Amino acid sequence: MNKLEKELKSFQPFWKGGTNRPKIGWSRMTRGGTVDEIMIYEDCIKEFVSSDSNVLEIGCGGGFWTQKFLCAKTFVGLDALSAEHNKFWDRVPKKDGFEYFQVSDFKCNELKDDSIDYLFSYDVFCHISYSGAREYLKNLYPKLKKGAQCFIMIADKNKYTDVNGLKRLMARTSHTNLQEFFDDYDGDPANGRWYFYGSERFCSLLDEYGYKIINKDSTKISDKLSPTIHFEK
Ligand SMILES: C[S@@+](CC[C@H](N)C(=O)[O-])C[C@H]1O[C@@H](n2cnc3c(N)ncnc32)[C@H](O)[C@@H]1O
Repeated sequence: MNKLEKELKSFQPFWKGGTNRPKIGWSRMTRGGTVDEIMIYEDCIKEFVSSDSNVLEIGCGGGFWTQKFLCAKTFVGLDALSAEHNKFWDRVPKKDGFEYFQVSDFKCNELKDDSIDYLFSYDVFCHISYSGAREYLKNLYPKLKKGAQCFIMIADKNKYTDVNGLKRLMARTSHTNLQEFFDDYDGDPANGRWYFYGSERFCSLLDEYGYKIINKDSTKISDKLSPTIHFEK
């Protein structure tokens, strides 16, 4: 099994029934007052998704954000875990044009070429290594329509200023030194760990694959710890 296959398989024991987010519901102050989900919806989803949109969500989990895509023409959710594990269809009504695929690689073969005009991914790429992010950005490019609007939340040590939170995240790995943990942004998977490659490295991949960066942090206020990069094909 190669590194990325191992990474995808590493999530099997986690988030049974979805994360807390779909269990708790919409809030202006989750995670100790660090995330305003309603504002994230307003800034990153509301004006970009309509009844004409063909939406892709990477790491749709238990379907929390998917509820905001129910108005779309089509929806594809890709996730490392099965829909049953995430209880996805318990929360998202089955509709024509709405599909969920459990992925076993980063190839995006589940998607038709030139088919997606909006991409959203929140609380997912922080769990994906730098090699995984590279593979996704490379393989997504032909699947997106020209002008597709994309929002991906990532982990960045320059924004994540909660040292106790960082120590808790580091404890999921074998690291005992924060700098070593940050530097290990392409390391081995462990316990739903985070990878802190940060905006600059992520944006250099966007440049490399020909995307246009619109905003290096669309959740500047709504997420106090992690940036969401807005970019366009
Ligand atoms: C912390 S949960 C977040 C779920 C959802 N986005 C939310 O905010 O409620 C992370 C999700 O990303 C999925 N995931 C992790 N790596 C992935 C990958 N490479 N491709 C697709 N999904 C992935 C996990 O299986 C899990 O469902």
